[in-house]
Amino acid sequence: MADARGLVDRLAAEHALPVEKYEELVRSFSPALAAYAAERAVAARREVYGDEVFVRGLIEVSSHCRNDCRYCGLRRSNRSAERYRLAPEEVLSCCDTGYDLGFRTFVLQGGEDPALTDAVVCDMVSRIKAAHPDCVVTLSLGERSRASYQALRDAGADRYLLRHETADAAHYARLHPPELTLERRLACLRDLREIGYQVGCGFMVGSPGQTSATLAEDLRLVEELRPEMCGIGPFVPHHATPFAEEPAGSVELTCYLLSLLRLIDQRLLLPATTALATLDPRGRERGMLAGANVAMPNLSPMDVREKYELYDNKAHAGSEAAEGLAELRRRMESVGCRVVVGRGDARRR
Ligand code: 5AD
Repeated sequence: MADARGLVDRLAAEHALPVEKYEELVRSFSPALAAYAAERAVAARREVYGDEVFVRGLIEVSSHCRNDCRYCGLRRSNRSAERYRLAPEEVLSCCDTGYDLGFRTFVLQGGEDPALTDAVVCDMVSRIKAAHPDCVVTLSLGERSRASYQALRDAGADRYLLRHETADAAHYARLHPPELTLERRLACLRDLREIGYQVGCGFMVGSPGQTSATLAEDLRLVEELRPEMCGIGPFVPHHATPFAEEPAGSVELTCYLLSLLRLIDQRLLLPATTALATLDPRGRERGMLAGANVAMPNLSPMDVREKYELYDNKAHAGSEAAEGLAELRRRMESVGCRVVVGRGDARRR
């Protein structure tokens, strides 16, 4: 424990560690060590962001997906999933609603839906930017060609979220069908970065086959890639996937990893994710207490929310929903944070 605390201190000072030290930190996880790391992480976040928490309105534009990821309820072999796709007008109207609520970032997220062609997405992005020039558009639409990422960027998209899911190639292969590779995922992240997006990677905590060694690689990847954002949340089983019987990831370990990520990069945008809020009614608060600084409430139309079922019991009511912003504000205040209206860019070095 004393040794592990020393490693936390070293990480807080140097913002980098050899991979075997990350592994040691992960293996040494205990509630007491996590509390120590959280205290340092919150101090680090305060130095850069004060008490500010950024919110993004999440719009789930399509639940169609051509991929067959073993963990995800939207996988193509899940015949029981009800599929939907929002019309551009619906997406715009979500943004209008969100704007009035105080959102200045909209995240368009969807499965890899072949109907979301460059023309369709570019049109959506440019219409949102025309209607709300003071807003940021973030896309989260999976793997696309470099030319496609460039076209979307040219149409006005500012940020792109593409979780790497795990930085270990063998583990990646266990979670995904053979046609998806870690190599390709990382190439996409590099392309996005080079094109000039603010980039977000991320991973699930407690996914089947994950070990302290694979988590150490995830931490190492964030240290090397230096993304603007990193989204992490516990794995939650979905009944119609091959991982239906697998246990969910741990809220405590997720929070500990949030703290370590905050110490790797004080400026990182770190969401307290919906998966965290799904497993724990105080998940958002606990995320902030561990060093997170972003919340992404759902702005999708009410009638589609339950169809975007990545995992079982996905939260979409209360302060999860954008309409619950007042409740979210109260919850954040209860942990010493303040929701601000604004673009919520990462503070530059
Ligand atoms: N549990 C937790 N997170 C999941 N995601 C997909 N399926 C699950 C699941 N069963 C996450 C993935 C993906 C993001 C949109 O949702 O990390 O990148």
